[in-house]
Amino acid sequence: MQATATKVVEFERPQMETGGSCTANAWAKVPATPSPEERAQLKARIRQLLKEKQAVLVAHYYVDGDLQDLAEETGGCVSDSLEMARFGRDHAAQTLVVAGVRFMGETAKILSPEKRILMPDLEATCSLDLGCPADEFAAFCDQHPDRTVVVYANTSAAVKARADWMVTSGIGLEIVQHLHAQGKKILWAPDKHLGSYIQKQTGADMLLWQGSCLVHDEFKGVELELMRAEHPDALVLVHPESPEAVVAQADVIGSTSQLIAAVQASDAPAFIVATDNGILHKMRAAAPGKRFIDAPTAGNSATCKSCAHCPWMAMNGLQNLLHVLETGANEIHVDPAVGKQAVVCIDRMLDFAAQRKAKVRPSARLEDEQQLFAGIGPA
Ligand code: 13P
Ligand code: SF4
Repeated sequence: MQATATKVVEFERPQMETGGSCTANAWAKVPATPSPEERAQLKARIRQLLKEKQAVLVAHYYVDGDLQDLAEETGGCVSDSLEMARFGRDHAAQTLVVAGVRFMGETAKILSPEKRILMPDLEATCSLDLGCPADEFAAFCDQHPDRTVVVYANTSAAVKARADWMVTSGIGLEIVQHLHAQGKKILWAPDKHLGSYIQKQTGADMLLWQGSCLVHDEFKGVELELMRAEHPDALVLVHPESPEAVVAQADVIGSTSQLIAAVQASDAPAFIVATDNGILHKMRAAAPGKRFIDAPTAGNSATCKSCAHCPWMAMNGLQNLLHVLETGANEIHVDPAVGKQAVVCIDRMLDFAAQRKAKVRPSARLEDEQQLFAGIGPA
């Protein structure tokens, strides 16, 4: 069955207070690179405060490499958004510092309303979240009451409150397969590329919201073909928020964690990477001596629209991380009534993930995931 194009909402609106665009405002707030001495001091103080405040740092692979390293070395986690949600929920710490974008902090708060969730900058958002306003989304759902509502994690708490299922890129395909097998028709939001990839893989009846990630939307299919010809020994790794022409050329398609796992498992000497280049920090550490090549975009512009780095992820730095630890500023709040509704769709996903993990033999898991996300698994 064909996916039907539906709703487009522009995310790059000028902000009333400043007059600048959302992304220009984000770039203006990116912390300056500290000097080597400042950097060492900031890191030492952060380690000390995390310990003193019994706080745990939960970071995404796209944030500054120093924050990723700090999360790992202090007993926190650096991962994709599925594992960030699970780790934050299951950790005993009562203060979580989430280095990533706002929906990640909100998800942590919804799952653990009793915990204090802090973020380096509360204005770190996501073009998918901005492009799916809760009121317009509710009206869209009202028009299609016969459909199971599946939303991507990159949405507001209010949008999740309206959903039956939340998914991340690491598990969306399997969940839609499961729903399709039950004969469900799906209303999907907001990422059109991920939605259309999953629709093609599963054959499910999916009505798609037309949002996109401003970083992945910039990867170019024709230029990727030329790049592949120049680097015939390179494996092509693609995040499924990328356009169809790019996904079609992938050797591995998957979430950030799955792409890093593919690098670890592969004996290829080189990788072309179609996702935010913050991930290269971890990939280089996982496979020292190998070549990593950024997949092609239209090139850098004044606002860095095509620089393969998310302006909102870039807002997380050592300085504002230290500031929130020192002051307790930037706490995430979610309306408890909204949180109570939103938690249902997140719990469904986490329960599904836990069942899947229990079913798959540990040694077979990576192989299964790679097959599934290379699009050669069960469809
Ligand atoms: P992952 O869940 O794959 O880490 O993706 C999150 C995200 O925002 C990608 O742009
Ligand atoms: Fe959102 Fe894209 Fe940034 Fe991920 S990389 S947080 S999808 S804008």
